[in-house]
Amino acid sequence: MTNTSQPVFCDTTLRDGNQSLKRPWNSQEKLMIFQQLLKLGLKVIEIGFPASSQMDFDSCRTLVQNAPSDVTLCVLARAVPEDIMLAAQALQNAHNPCIHIVMPMNPLGLQYILKKDLNEVTQTAIQAIKQAKFLLPPNGKIEFSVEHFGDCKDNLTDVIHVLTQAVQAGATLINLANTVERSHPMAFVDMVKQVKAAIDDTAELSVHCHNDLGMATATTVESFFAGATHMDTTLNGIGERCGNTNMFEVAVALYNSGINIPLQMQHFYQAAQLVAQLSGIPIWEKAPLMGRDCFIHRSGIHQDGATKTKALQKGQYMPFRPELIGRTDGETFGFTSQSGKAALQFLCQEVGISLSPEQAASLMPKAKHLAEKKGELSLTDVSHLCLNNN
Ligand code: KIV
Ligand code: ZN
Repeated sequence: MTNTSQPVFCDTTLRDGNQSLKRPWNSQEKLMIFQQLLKLGLKVIEIGFPASSQMDFDSCRTLVQNAPSDVTLCVLARAVPEDIMLAAQALQNAHNPCIHIVMPMNPLGLQYILKKDLNEVTQTAIQAIKQAKFLLPPNGKIEFSVEHFGDCKDNLTDVIHVLTQAVQAGATLINLANTVERSHPMAFVDMVKQVKAAIDDTAELSVHCHNDLGMATATTVESFFAGATHMDTTLNGIGERCGNTNMFEVAVALYNSGINIPLQMQHFYQAAQLVAQLSGIPIWEKAPLMGRDCFIHRSGIHQDGATKTKALQKGQYMPFRPELIGRTDGETFGFTSQSGKAALQFLCQEVGISLSPEQAASLMPKAKHLAEKKGELSLTDVSHLCLNNN
């Protein structure tokens, strides 16, 4: 099965991202992120977990009052009456409200956390969905999540049975969570396929992946191609432990695969900076898409290939064009003991000195020697080298 439809990005920066912060955001901070999400074109946004704290409840109210009419706002609730009540209150007067109910269904969670079997879980789920339906206006939506779905390999048939009943009770979106990433993407994707086959078009299908082993983006992208239409993601991949699926990475991976992305990708870079600033979590220099090093080549082979393909739309070592995500920096070179002539010529050009290939070749031993001693050369080092080369 290959999904070529337009993906729906459900952002959970303000819920899953927020609940992982050392200092969760207040209403004003959430509003700043929310406005950035709107600028990116998000149409489904999870704004909080109202039962978690008064501050989170209040922030949900603030966002409800500031939301445009075409955006669906979700809030999280456990399958307990108090949570669902608070969720409905937090969403009061929202144009498009959605209550997101979550229950673990993995054998470990059933035995040690819920202390229920799947029959009891089904009854609890159905009651919770009915309560949410009763409290929501007619256009309200209900998302039903299987927490630890990735750990449900051994009871998958039974879990699928619960899900079909959840849909019959009124769940409009089924969300499959890889709450803890323990294995490999296709193990999860195979399970997603089985749910897709069972629920077909009776409800929308979503995935929610965590990044414990660094494969949340891969799992989410492959789940989309396996039939999930919705994907939970966060800005900068913030979220519990090693984070959630990174929205930017999924969007660019799907875009590069020919999928139409319903987001304003040119604002990604700006959004990443805002989240780094408000979360206090800096962007690592090697972070995909956003890191300082994304377009810097330091090895001679790469520098040579990059120089020869610079004018082309698809560069030999360019995963995408920087302007796609709103970056104003471009492909550039650093000179180290691993670097080549092309870099020296390029960097000399940067300091206003034009070197022929022969001149660059003759300068190389000196440049390498210096770089062996001090590491990457600065532009001042390069300029001194050129000026003292005689
Ligand atoms: O990781 C998780 O299981 C969750 C659920 C609420 C979907 O965040
Ligand atoms: Zn999560």
